[in-house]
Amino acid sequence: MAYPAEAANAPETSAPSTSFPSDIRFEQYRDERDMPGIVSLIDKDLSEPYSVFTYRYFINNWPDLCFMTMQGDRCVGAIICKLDVHRCRKTHRGYIAMLAVEKELRGQRIGSKLVQLCLDRMRQLNADECVLETEVTNLGALGLYRSMGFVKEKRLHKYYLNGNDAFRLKYLFKLPEGFHAGMGCLGQLVESWTPETKE
Ligand SMILES: CC(C)(COP(=O)(O)OP(=O)(O)OC[C@H]1O[C@@H](n2cnc3c(N)ncnc32)[C@H](O)[C@@H]1OP(=O)(O)O)[C@@H](O)C(=O)NCCC(=O)NCCS
Repeated sequence: MAYPAEAANAPETSAPSTSFPSDIRFEQYRDERDMPGIVSLIDKDLSEPYSVFTYRYFINNWPDLCFMTMQGDRCVGAIICKLDVHRCRKTHRGYIAMLAVEKELRGQRIGSKLVQLCLDRMRQLNADECVLETEVTNLGALGLYRSMGFVKEKRLHKYYLNGNDAFRLKYLFKLPEGFHAGMGCLGQLVESWTPETKE
């Protein structure tokens, strides 16, 4: 499905309206034909090397949570997400696994639009929250997510293979159960904590 300029400028989330270059369009992932463009765009930027199986795990299981920015036939932006039930809290948790915009097109709110498309879809799918990790040094990503309403949940020590720490960021679609009883944004644990459920 393609998202024309007028749809691109009618967000449900808090991302401010903007106009994109006229040759840019936003599309949902269709099938394997889109995979090479997405992989080559994202591989250029991310510090963690992903195998094609990682891409397939996310995209084949949640194709409706993968969006691309296209310029002609070229994929110049992509976001890959999933949505499942969080084991301890039994919340519907969205997760942004990968996001990238081609270098020469950055700073034009394409990244924000891709995040907004995923948040809108997650909301339609009844998500309670959306999380992601990003390097503590990635000021671009931290700025983008902060401007969209994400907050820092925790710092994950030496989370990446390069030894860098990560921030876990969280966006709340709904206030968690227990919030008004003073349990804060994390809400109530449904099961007791074990090392396997520590996320
Ligand atoms: C992070 C990334 C996706 C941002 O894409 P983008 O299209 O340039 O982002 P946007 O234009 O939507 O930026 C929205 C806001 O984010 C912040 N931001 C974006 N890039 C920034 C930068 N380099 N430094 C500081 N803030 C930045 C700003 O607050 C900006 O709002 P403003 O333009 O009103 O100041 C892009 O830089 C990228 O692909 N980086 C490499 C891959 C990566 O780091 N992915 C994230 C992994 S979690």
